[in-house]
Amino acid sequence: MSKILVTGGAGFIGSHTIVELLNEGHEVVVVDNLCNSSLESLSRVEKITGKKVTFYKADIRDKKALEDVLAKHHCNACIHFAGLKAVGESVEKPWEYYENNISGTLILLDVLRNNGCKNIIFSSSATVYGNPAQIPITEECPKGECTNPYGWTKSMLEQVMMDIQHADPEWNIVLLRYFNPIGAHPSGMIGEDPNGIPNNLMPYITQVAIGKRAELGVFGNDYDTPDGTGVRDFIHVVDLARGHVSALQAIERKCGLAVYNLGTGHGYSVLDVVKAFIRVNGVDIPYSIKPRRAGDIATCYSDPSKAERELGWKARYGLDEMCRDSWNWQKNNPNGFAK
Ligand code: NAD
Ligand code: UFG
Repeated sequence: MSKILVTGGAGFIGSHTIVELLNEGHEVVVVDNLCNSSLESLSRVEKITGKKVTFYKADIRDKKALEDVLAKHHCNACIHFAGLKAVGESVEKPWEYYENNISGTLILLDVLRNNGCKNIIFSSSATVYGNPAQIPITEECPKGECTNPYGWTKSMLEQVMMDIQHADPEWNIVLLRYFNPIGAHPSGMIGEDPNGIPNNLMPYITQVAIGKRAELGVFGNDYDTPDGTGVRDFIHVVDLARGHVSALQAIERKCGLAVYNLGTGHGYSVLDVVKAFIRVNGVDIPYSIKPRRAGDIATCYSDPSKAERELGWKARYGLDEMCRDSWNWQKNNPNGFAK
C-alpha cells in the first residue's frame, strides 16, 4: 500500500482512477482547483468504495499550497491528471493552456523532487502522434505535429519529463498515452460531466439521448475509412483507470522512463458508436452529416500490446459496455453532478 498524490482527481478520469486505487488498498491525497469538476464526484467515490479521500482545493501553479500538502503527506508517487483539455478552447486561448498545463506541471515536478517524491504518472494523449505515421500506433511511432496548443502541451511536457528522467535517473516516470476514454463507472454514480456544449462524441450522444440536444452532428463522412466517418480507439474509463494501478506497479519496480499506449487496439467509427449506442440502450440518436471538424484525422487506434507485455494490463470492456455505462451515468444524472 502506498500514498498517492492525485492532481486533478475530481475530474472524469481522476475520479475513476481513485476508485481503483482505493479498491487496491492505496491511500489518496487529491489536489484539484475544481475549475472543470465538482467535489461531488469525490463524495460519490467515497460512497462507491466506502473509503475516505483526502482533498485539497488548490491550484498546481500555487507552489506554497503544493509544498504544504506534501509536507503534511509523505506521498510515494504522483498521478498527474490536472490540466485544461478542451482542444477548441486551446486554439482560442493558447496562453492560458500553456500557462496552466506547462507552468503547473513544472511547479509540480519541482515540489515533488524537493520532497523526495520522484515517481510520477503523466496523463498524455494519442494526440502526441499527430497524424500518425502508422496504424495501429505503437509507442515507437514518431511523435508528430500537433494540430492545437492543447496537444502541444502534452507533447512538450513529455519531452520535459524525458529530459528530467535522463538527467536524474532516480526519477521513475510513466507517460500514459490515452486514446479515447468513454463510458462511466458501472454503478452509474460517477461519469463525465462536461461544462456547456460537449466537444467530445460520447457526451454529445448521451445529451441527445436525454433530450438536451436535438441531434448529433457527425463531422464528415468522406474520410478514407470503411463508412467514411472518423475511426477512434474508444476505451472504457474503468479500463483506463486500471491502467494507472498497473503503471504504479511499474514504478515500484523502478521502471525509469516508460511510455505506454492505453487503448483497446480496436478502431470504431463514429457511426459504429452511434449504432451500438442505439442497439444497446434502445434509445434513438438522430444525427446528420456535417462538414469535417478542423484538425481531425481520419483514423487513430493503438497497438496496446506493450502495456500488456510489460504491465500485464489489457482493456476488458468492449464498445457495448462503454455505451451501456455512458447512458447509465447520464440517465441517472441528467444534470451531471449538479444537484
Ligand atoms: P477533467 O477536466 O475532467 O479533469 C482534469 C481535472 O484537473 C479537473 O478536475 C480540473 O478541475 C483539474 N485542474 C485543471 N487545471 C488545474 C490546476 N491548474 N490545478 C489544479 N487542478 C486543475 O479531464 P479528464 O478527462 O479527467 O482528463 C484528465 C487528464 O487526462 C488531463 O490531463 C487530460 O488532458 C488528459 N487526457 C484526457 C483525455 C480525454 O479524452 N478525456 C484524453 C487524453 C488525455
Ligand atoms: N465527432 C462527431 N461529432 C461530435 C463530436 C465528435 O462526429 O459532436 C467525431 C469527431 O469528428 C471524431 C470522433 O467523433 O471523428 C471523436 O471525436 P472526439 O472529440 O470525441 O475525440 P478526438 O479523437 O477528437 O479527441 C479526443 C480528446 C483529445 C485527445 C484525443 C486522443 O478530446 O483530448 O481524443 O486521445 F487528445
